[in-house]
This record gives sequence, C-alpha cells and structure tokens, in this order.
Amino acid sequence: MTPFFKLTLSASAATLFALTQAAPAYPPPRQVDACSILGGLNATDVTYQYVVNCYNAIPFDSKQAGTTLSTMLTIFKDFYVFTDSALSPTATRPFSVDPVDIIGELEKIGRTMYTSDYKFHTDISNAVTSLRDAHTDYFIDCYRAYSFAQKLSLYAPVVDGKQANSAKRNYDDCTVNTINGLDALTYVKNYARDVTDRSHDPNARLNFLLTTQGFNEEKGVFVDKEGDFSWRVTVPEAAYVDYQIQCPHLTQPVDLREEWLVFPQNDITFEDIDSYVTNVCLPSAETTPPHVENSVQLLFKPYPQIIKRAEPEPEPETVTPGHQYPGAEQFLAGNATVFYHLKDRPDTGVVVCHTSEIGDEERDVVVKGLKALNDCNVTNIIVDLQSNIGGYAGFAAFLADIFFPSSLPLPADLPSDIRVTKAIQQISAQGYNPSTAGFYDAYLYVNLNNGTGTERYQNNDLFEHPVTITRNGRTNLWTEKTLYYFEPVPPNYNAAVSSFTWSDKVSNIRLLTDGLCGSACAISAYCFTRRHNVTPYFIGGIHGEDLSMFSFAGAAMIGLSAVQSWYKQSNMTSPMADLPYRSVVSYSWLEMYGEGRTLPLEYDAELYSPTYRLDYTPTNARSRKALWNEVAAASWNQGV
Ligand SMILES: *[C@@H]1O[C@H](CO)[C@@H](O)[C@H](O)[C@H]1NC(C)=O
Ligand SMILES: *[C@@H]1O[C@H](CO)[C@@H](O)[C@H](O)[C@H]1NC(C)=O
Ligand SMILES: *[C@@H]1O[C@H](CO)[C@@H](O)[C@H](O)[C@H]1NC(C)=O
Ligand SMILES: *[C@@H]1O[C@H](CO)[C@@H](O)[C@H](O)[C@H]1NC(C)=O
Ligand SMILES: *[C@@H]1O[C@H](CO)[C@@H](O)[C@H](O)[C@H]1NC(C)=O
Repeated sequence: MTPFFKLTLSASAATLFALTQAAPAYPPPRQVDACSILGGLNATDVTYQYVVNCYNAIPFDSKQAGTTLSTMLTIFKDFYVFTDSALSPTATRPFSVDPVDIIGELEKIGRTMYTSDYKFHTDISNAVTSLRDAHTDYFIDCYRAYSFAQKLSLYAPVVDGKQANSAKRNYDDCTVNTINGLDALTYVKNYARDVTDRSHDPNARLNFLLTTQGFNEEKGVFVDKEGDFSWRVTVPEAAYVDYQIQCPHLTQPVDLREEWLVFPQNDITFEDIDSYVTNVCLPSAETTPPHVENSVQLLFKPYPQIIKRAEPEPEPETVTPGHQYPGAEQFLAGNATVFYHLKDRPDTGVVVCHTSEIGDEERDVVVKGLKALNDCNVTNIIVDLQSNIGGYAGFAAFLADIFFPSSLPLPADLPSDIRVTKAIQQISAQGYNPSTAGFYDAYLYVNLNNGTGTERYQNNDLFEHPVTITRNGRTNLWTEKTLYYFEPVPPNYNAAVSSFTWSDKVSNIRLLTDGLCGSACAISAYCFTRRHNVTPYFIGGIHGEDLSMFSFAGAAMIGLSAVQSWYKQSNMTSPMADLPYRSVVSYSWLEMYGEGRTLPLEYDAELYSPTYRLDYTPTNARSRKALWNEVAAASWNQGV
C-alpha cells in the first residue's frame, strides 16, 4: 500500500523546545479568570488547555453575533460567486464534495442558542470551510491568536533525518502505524476529507496536510515545509496526538504522546477576559484611516501570512545557494522563478515557479533564465509548479504562454463573469472617472461584444445588462462573459524566445505539479495543459486514486475590508455592517471558465485530471532533483 506514512523530526520543530520569547512581566492579575491565567503566562509556558479555557470563557454577545451573521449572510446572498454552484448534488472525479447550502447553514446557526462566543464563530468558520473554496475565508483574530505545532511531521513516505535533533530521538524513517488509535493513513485521509478546505478533491487536500519541499528564497534552496496536519492555526481536536510508530532499528513499536507546542501570533497583552476581548478581538481603538484599495490588481493568493513566532528559520544545513543538488546547476533565482540545468541530462532544463505573487518585472527574469538554458544547448524543459499557492493572474498566464511565442498575445485571463445583484449594481454605478467602485467597475473589464473584443467597457453595460443563469435550481443574474483587462504582453518577449529549441514544441515541455498548485498557479497549469496541450505529471495523493493537478483554479478573491472601503469612498452605506471582531474575511467574487466550457472552472472537475502519475518514493520525497530526473526519463527516455 502506498503511500505509507513515516515520520521524522522536522528541523524547525526540533529547535522549538529550546527557544524562549521574552515576555513582559505582568502585574498580578486583578481577578482570576481563564484569560487572566493565559495572559499571565510566560510565552514558553502556554499550553493547549490554557488557550482553550480562555477561548471558551469569552461570553456570547447576541448583538455582536447578530451583526456578524447578517454580514456573512449578505456576502453569500449578494456577493459570493459560488453560492448556487455549491449546491451541486454531484461531483465528478477527482472531486468529492457534498452539496453545500451555505445560506441554509448560516440560517441554521442563526436559529441556534449559543452560550459560547467561540462555538458561534467556530460554527461560522466550519460552514465557510465546508465550501472547500480556499479563496473564501472566515478568519477571526480572537480565535487565531495562537498557533499549534507538532514536533513530528508526516511525510509520504519520508524525508530523511538530516536534522540535528533527530539523533536524540532517532525517529526518522519510522513508519506511523496509528494516529489516535486509528490506522494512520485512514486518520489522515479522514482529516483531509472532513477538516481542510483547500480543494474540492480530498486527495489534493491530503497533499496539503503533509510536509513538502518549499523553496526558501533567502537561502536559495528547497527546505522542508510542514503541512497543515502538523501546523495548525485553529485549535486542534485535543491537547496532544497519540502516535504508534515502527522504527527499522527497533523491534518493538513505540507509543508517543505528542503535545501541541503553542505559539502566540501577536504581541498583544491582556489581563482578563474583558481586556482579551478589547485588545485581541475588537478592532483597535485608534481609528486608522480605512485603507482604500485604489489600484486594484487581480490577486489570487488566498492565505494571509501565518506567523510562526519564537522560531528561527530552519537551518538548511550547510548548502550553498545554487549547490543543493550536485547533479543540478542553479543558474538564476528570481523572486518567483528558479532555473536549473540537469548535469546528468544536459539536454534538460528545469523552471521552478514557487510563487505567482510577483509583478511583471519577473517576465525579464524568465526570459533571462530561458536564454541561459538555451545557451547550454538545453532542448527539453520541465516546468515545476509544486507547492505554489498562487498570486497574480497576469504573470500566471505569461509563464505558460512564453513557451508558445507564436500564439502570443493571448488573453492573460479566462472568460469570466460576476454576480449581479442590486447591491453590486449600486456600487458599480460609481465606476469610471475617478472610480470608487473597486472591482465592481466595468472599466476594468473587456467588452467582448464590441469591436475587436479587446477594448475595455466605456460604460456600465456590464453591470446594467446582466444575463440570467439557473444553477442547481436557483436563478440569479450574472454579467455577460468578459475578461479582466490586462495590458497585452509586449511583442519583444515573443521575439526574445522564439528561436529556442523548445518554443512552440509541446513534445519538449513537461509540467510537474502536486495538487497544491493553487489559484494563480492553477491558471498557469490550466494554460499549459489545456491551452497548449503540455503533458502534466503529478505526484502524491493515494496510490491508485484520482488526484487533481491543481486546486481552487477558477476564482479571484477579495477581502471584505476592501469592499467596505469602496462603499466608504463612494459615500454609500454598505449593505454589510463592519464585522464587530477584527478579522480577515474574503470571498470569491469573479469566476472563470475553461475556454469553451460552460461549467465554472472551480467546479469543472474534468479539467483537473492530469495524464501521468508519480508516487512519492524515499528518494524523490527527499529531493526535487530526483523527481525531475524521473519526469525527464519518462518523457525523453534517453537520459543517463
Ligand atoms: C520565561 O521562561 C524562560 C525560560 O524558562 C525564562 O528564561 C524567562 O526568564 C521567563 N520570562 C519571564 C518573564 O518569566
Ligand atoms: C526581487 O525583489 C527585490 C525586493 O523587492 C528586488 O530588489 C530585486 O530586484 C528583485 N529581483 C529580481 C531578480 O527581480
Ligand atoms: C552548444 O552547442 C554548440 C554547437 O554544437 C557548441 O559549440 C557549444 O559549445 C555548446 N555549448 C555548451 C555550453 O555546451
Ligand atoms: C464600443 O467601442 C467604441 C469604439 O471604441 C466606443 O466608442 C463605445 O463606447 C464602445 N461601447 C461600449 C459599450 O463599450
Ligand atoms: C464623498 O464625500 C466627500 C465629502 O463630502 C467628497 O469630497 C467626495 O467627492 C465624495 N465622493 C463621491 C464619490 O461622491
């Protein structure tokens, strides 16, 4: 059975015990409640139970809850683009999702009697999570003030023990038999099925739970990156995880009870429940002028930065940047792309794109990197998009299209539409000159029905003349199909790459992904595979089961605070009251379609299925280089 679970001490976690964070000396608390106990602790003494006790002690406030629920309902009734799609009673492979009636779920919360504020917000968060839409989040600072880490990270199958501390416990290369008494793989599969939200595909969600190799820009090398199973921003199910592991060097299995290590996510101090609510939960008293999003850019990256406090960067051994893999020379590292030449397969080059959160300046890096590979007589290219969870759509499309210069310029965006409701029509009427309508400004979109179909809207027809779409029994209004407007790629880019051996040759290009490739990265993967027919290889998941090659592909996200700022600058009353608690709430507001497709790409499961599948092995899980060689050998079967 593959994958089999093994575990190792991760380098980062291994250092956690030793670290302390200077905490201010608190005066004796005025009264002893669960939050005063928590607030009085040295940061290194905080445990799971102290945090849970304080969270549970926050009193339920029905007025605040009413405001919160009303705002969330309005988002999903009037703004969210997938409210109707989420009702779909069936999911085709590789997806597996139950229909979600998000409005019904929120209304059910509205009818529930709560005594715990924490329970109320957790229920909303769970309802939002059930959509499995990584662009749509309900993050409440009040209940994300601490993060939780396991010292053991899970791999499928394993990354070897190069960590300093591993000698102490020596659990590297051990197989995990059980987690909390259940077969380990079953436990993690269930967790992927029930708890995480990053894909409609449970196997892609499983990949998100495990440790991956992430590129450390500062060090210029790949390092182990804990997965969502061992690193939580919400409160775990219990104070510890029980593992039974079987190590090759021991005859008996070992039972481990691993407490969660707890890390404060901010420096805020508090001394009791009241001051916890005031200082941590409520918006800060000094009113910062609302941040107005004037330069709107299509951002697809769904996660706010999670701070792992009191922990230094894991020391990536003694690897010199660019010399991590003896058999792969690193030519050039930009801010999003890195270029490697495989020494043992001199005809093969690798382009790693580890983030798409990058501006147009990276285009020049890409051209420079490709030129360097061409100068080495490279003829075959592997594009490695593993673990890239998104960024900007403009760069995402460029990354794929630059390999096919004869077809440029192609639109950077896919056919798209937006919900149209009364609320959206009101704000969109504030478009143009100067616009105060943010993304609800028709000028940002291409009028596909006018002239050459490449010009922007010069009026508000997009929002004034919607079309009717019925999905899963609900009829609502949408804009006609449009494209988000991007400046066309200047022709000098085509010219710069047109003579390269692989250019326009689909047989010389391969794609490598892992299902974690999300959002803008998914647009790159879509463009490679569907627009240009590049063959994808994908890795991970459960052997023999389907796995998506990318996740949350078909939407753009916006934060509630940005939408509120557009209403404010338009001197309009938003239909959504500001949330009483400090929060990051975002939603998908624009949906895309695959070219020529009728189902929104987010739900168009067929487009997520890749061609070739690779399994993690003890070798390729330790080294991207080993993986590149596997893809190269399978693709251009002539390597050494
Ligand atoms: C916090 O704990 C560390 C380690 O035990 C200790 O060195 C430090 O003095 C403590 N800080 C406070 C404020 O008690
Ligand atoms: C990467 O980003 C840094 C900081 O923004 C910038 O100074 C540098 O020029 C960028 N590098 C490249 C290759 O674009
Ligand atoms: C590339 O091929 C050319 C022509 O065969 C040769 O002259 C040149 O030395 C090669 N360059 C490299 C870096 O191998
Ligand atoms: C269509 O294009 C023409 C010429 O570019 C422009 O004058 C007109 O306003 C456009 N109409 C719309 C609906 O954008
Ligand atoms: C909103 O009101 C302010 C102050 O009265 C005014 O300066 C501004 O132009 C108004 N904005 C719009 C979009 O009407």
